[in-house]
Amino acid sequence: MNTLVFLLLALVSAGTHDQVSGTEKITGLYGETVVIPCNRGDPPPRDLMFIKWKYEKDDGSAGDLLIVQANSGQPTVQSTDDYADRVSIDDKYSLLISQASLKDQKTFTCMVVSGTNLMEYPVLVVIYKKPSSVTLMDKSDVLQKDKLTSVGTCVAADANPAAKITWTKNRKPLVVDGKVTITPSMKLDPATGLSTTSSTLQYAATKEDVDSVFACVSTHVLTNQTIDLGPFPIHYPSEKVSLEITSKVSIIEGDNVTLKCHADGNPPPSSFFFYLKGQKILVENSDNYTLNGISREASGEYKCSLADDEKMQASQSISVSYLDLSLSLSGQVVKTVGDTLSVSVDKSSSGEPKVSWTKNGKAVSQPEFSKLTYADSGVYVCEAVLSGIVQHQSFELVVEGKPVIKSLTKLRAADAKHKVLSCEAEGVPEPRFQWSVNHTGEDIFYNNGKATHKITMEPRENLTVSCTVSNKLGEDVRTINVSSVFKEKNENQGSREDFQDQSKLIVGVVVGLLVIAAVVGLFYWLYMKNRRQGSWKTGEKEMGTSEESKKLEENNHTV
Ligand SMILES: *[C@@H]1O[C@H](CO)[C@@H](O)[C@H](O)[C@H]1NC(C)=O
Ligand SMILES: *[C@@H]1O[C@H](CO)[C@@H](O)[C@H](O)[C@H]1NC(C)=O
Ligand SMILES: *[C@@H]1O[C@H](CO)[C@@H](O)[C@H](O)[C@H]1NC(C)=O
Ligand SMILES: *[C@@H]1O[C@H](CO)[C@@H](O)[C@H](O)[C@H]1NC(C)=O
Ligand SMILES: *[C@@H]1O[C@H](CO)[C@@H](O)[C@H](O)[C@H]1NC(C)=O
Ligand SMILES: *[C@@H]1O[C@H](CO)[C@@H](O)[C@H](O)[C@H]1NC(C)=O
Repeated sequence: MNTLVFLLLALVSAGTHDQVSGTEKITGLYGETVVIPCNRGDPPPRDLMFIKWKYEKDDGSAGDLLIVQANSGQPTVQSTDDYADRVSIDDKYSLLISQASLKDQKTFTCMVVSGTNLMEYPVLVVIYKKPSSVTLMDKSDVLQKDKLTSVGTCVAADANPAAKITWTKNRKPLVVDGKVTITPSMKLDPATGLSTTSSTLQYAATKEDVDSVFACVSTHVLTNQTIDLGPFPIHYPSEKVSLEITSKVSIIEGDNVTLKCHADGNPPPSSFFFYLKGQKILVENSDNYTLNGISREASGEYKCSLADDEKMQASQSISVSYLDLSLSLSGQVVKTVGDTLSVSVDKSSSGEPKVSWTKNGKAVSQPEFSKLTYADSGVYVCEAVLSGIVQHQSFELVVEGKPVIKSLTKLRAADAKHKVLSCEAEGVPEPRFQWSVNHTGEDIFYNNGKATHKITMEPRENLTVSCTVSNKLGEDVRTINVSSVFKEKNENQGSREDFQDQSKLIVGVVVGLLVIAAVVGLFYWLYMKNRRQGSWKTGEKEMGTSEESKKLEENNHTV
């Protein structure tokens, strides 16, 4: 059968009117009228009597078709079978058979009878039919990597001769090897004799085939047809799984830590197992799992795997940083001046933190005092830092002490009538001042345990004034002698104020003496002048005081 088809194809390509071993061959188209020329269409001999067409039956016997007399030109159909309605003849004595089918693939013979001769011209008829359709069936949606997957089945239906189906990838023919399997099949319709060819392609893809276009090609003497398939997504299982910890560089206790499982398969897996500290958690339609508010105990090894292949897994270790800080002192710490003070830092952490101290915002070393002073009071803050964690603890130190008077001084006020007394003391809490005298113009200053109290008073007599300072812890008293403002000329106490008073007195006396000397000098000059001019009038004496007169008289006597 195949060799026959091959033979026929060879004939078609060589031309329809070639003759092989004396028999002419022509092709007709299925369903149409086939024209079979008599003696290649050559004109009949002049002495033609009649022409008769007959055919060879399957059993080898001859079947009559029709006959035409040379003089009448009208054919007489002799056939009594299926050909009776389908045969006719044209003016060149060619036999016409309508509605050709494969059953018409036989040898028809034109018998030319003339007065002198009888010639027979046999013609072999071949009927071609192009495939009624070329279709693709069972087309795949995806291809599997390294696994023979059915790409599709191509069907060329009802053709004669049978259509040939081949496959191409990116326009290059696919040949059968370990990665390509082509399964052809052929069906012959027993009624019509037409062939239906089909071919199934199976293909083991690589990742690069994601862009590949496949095609099924139906080849037939009458028509070629190509159907494209693809490109197809390539599916392949995961070969590598990795676990990602989506977090900052360091994980701090209380952070939300998300574990994310990556797999390189296509399509990407959608379900995973996460293994957390002995727990196995199935996560579906997500690739991640979040640990909310992670605790320090959560440090350790974490794993994830594919839900459908637990052997495909990856692991990561998580280390959680933490830092607890506490001080042996807190809140307000009240101490007495002169006491000792020390503070201890208690820290629990995942590493060695950096510890620093400030007092009222300024950097200091860790507080440690063998003898507290008022200046040591303040807010002490301890700061510990460890990989992004910052912790603060603080206490407020208050140094208290009973007030002590440091000085008690006096000064004459600007108006010379009053005196200003200044009492300086140290003590915490702020001391209260009490004076043993009535006073005005109070002036109070208190800072860092140092208190100064100034008063203005008017001493009408010699006084011993006391300054008393007190707070809840005790009191201190000091006294000072204050002389009456009016009598103080005679005081010669060693105090600075008295020294000032004395020097003022001395200056006063000296100035007084100089004035007297000048006045005496003036009068003497006038007297001498008048004596020389003789115009001195005793009446003018009444201008001076009695004392001055006396002095003048004394001068007169001495001169
Ligand atoms: C069909 O394809 C073949 C080769 O692929 C070619 O030789 C032939 O001419 C084609 N026939 C038609 C009808 O296109
Ligand atoms: C952790 O997640 C919870 C809720 O999911 C959220 O309220 C909280 O603010 C998150 N904490 C941090 C540190 O992001
Ligand atoms: C976790 O998975 C969900 C669901 O797929 C997604 O919406 C979310 O963005 C993912 N979170 C992270 C941090 O990747
Ligand atoms: C203080 O002044 C008041 C009247 O203002 C007076 O009664 C009192 O005796 C004075 N005390 C002294 C210590 O001078
Ligand atoms: C103050 O005066 C008293 C007598 O009134 C005297 O006994 C005392 O020594 C004087 N104090 C000073 C510091 O001069
Ligand atoms: C005040 O004291 C001085 C000596 O310090 C004395 O000379 C004077 O008499 C005293 N005055 C009175 C009023 O007591």
